[in-house]
Amino acid sequence: MSIERTFSIIKPDATRRNLTGAINAMLEGAGLRIIAQKRIHMSLEKAQGFYAVHKERPFFGELTEFMSSEPVVVQVLEGEDAVVKNREVMGATNPEEATEGTIRKEHALNIGENSVHGSDSLENAGIEIAYFFNDDEIVG
Ligand code: CMP
Repeated sequence: MSIERTFSIIKPDATRRNLTGAINAMLEGAGLRIIAQKRIHMSLEKAQGFYAVHKERPFFGELTEFMSSEPVVVQVLEGEDAVVKNREVMGATNPEEATEGTIRKEHALNIGENSVHGSDSLENAGIEIAYFFNDDEIVG
C-alpha cells in the first residue's frame, strides 16, 4: 500500500442537482483527502482533449458536449491506494451495474450522466491532474 494521488471530476448532472457536498462526503468517508478542488466550466475543446482516448467511440460527441454543458468540480484526491479506492467508491460506469453504497449507485442517472469521473491508473492520474491543475494549486 502506498499514498497515491488520483484525479476526480464531479460531473454536470451532479453539480446541477446540488450534489457536490454529498459526493465529497462519500469520498472523504472512503478515506480520500480532497487536497485540491475547483469549480470550472470546461470548454468543448478542453473536454475533447481530456477524452481524446475515446474520440473514435460513438458516444464521444455526446460525452464531450455533456462535460462542457455546465460547471464541473475537478479534484485531486490523496490517500492509501487512492486510484483503486476512488474507483471502488465511484462504482461501475453504468449505474445499473454499480454496487449499493457507491456514488454512481446512489446518484448517477445513466451511463453518460454518471456523476463522477476517476482516473483508471496511477499513470493516467498524473496526466489528468496536470491537465487541470498547476503545481501551485495543490497545497496538500
Ligand atoms: P468516465 O469515467 O468519465 O470516462 C468515459 C466516459 O464515457 C464514462 O465515464 C461514461 O460517462 C461515458 N460513457 C461510456 N460509455 C458510454 C455510452 N455507451 N454512452 C454514453 N456515455 C458513455
